Amino acid sequence: MIKQSAPIGVFDSGLGGISVLREIHRLLPAEQLIYIADSGHAPYGSKSTEYITQRCLQLSDFLLEQGAKMLVVACNTATAHAIDTMREQKLSVPVIGMEPAVKPAARLTQSGVIGVLATQQTVKSQRLQRLIHDYANGVKVVAQACPGLVEHVEKGDFASLELKGLLADYTTPLIKQGADVIVLGCTHYPFLAAALHEIVGPRITILETSNAVAQHVSRLLIKHELQTSADQQGSVSFYSSKVDAVHRQSMQLLWQQSLELDLLPSHYLTIPPQMPVPDPQ
Ligand code: DGL
Repeated sequence: MIKQSAPIGVFDSGLGGISVLREIHRLLPAEQLIYIADSGHAPYGSKSTEYITQRCLQLSDFLLEQGAKMLVVACNTATAHAIDTMREQKLSVPVIGMEPAVKPAARLTQSGVIGVLATQQTVKSQRLQRLIHDYANGVKVVAQACPGLVEHVEKGDFASLELKGLLADYTTPLIKQGADVIVLGCTHYPFLAAALHEIVGPRITILETSNAVAQHVSRLLIKHELQTSADQQGSVSFYSSKVDAVHRQSMQLLWQQSLELDLLPSHYLTIPPQMPVPDPQ
């Protein structure tokens, strides 16, 4: 029997999911939230489906062990590659994922061209292809893989020249092809929105889905009768698979207040040796 006062577990390959966590916290301040940054294994965008799936299952185990009443996969790459397997295995609690905002972007575009910035593995995924097929009929979708951006966010860099150079490299082909809407298909990228706006200019609309996901969490809590009582004092606990001073500082910068950060228990830090999962490249 799941308790209504139980926590909601939220995780990402690293710090990006904090963009989703802050929206959930804003919308549902009475809820207990547990966030895991799997920064010891970031980026997921260059890992295999098997690798990503193993990590998602391990992190889910940890969150369920903490009594989580719901899991939020605050990572587009993990959703694209692992959520189906998670849902098959973790039926005891609802599991919510992320999808790039292709559908609203297709409705919004005037030029008939939208750009999607995402990780290599999200761009390659069947899930993105399906989303485009189902919701962007008649609209040209230019999906751009953006290696390197996640690493900049992980080290707390949102504005360096090197980062801006990468952003210009990734957005120029989209603009040249006529995109007037750019979808941020990775939860790390909302932290780069200010730099992106500066580079692409005010005529380009930038979309991301963290608020929509928070609203979905709220609706599902109601549907499953899992909302905590409104007079409860909410809390947020932070875990990571990597804890050092720089990481803690980046996390605080993104969360915008000081926080306690705990290392995951040792058996959740690595993929067990009986499950060898090679990287694809
Ligand atoms: N935040 C993850 C996402 O939404 C980044 C994945 C990565 O670590 O490459 O896709």
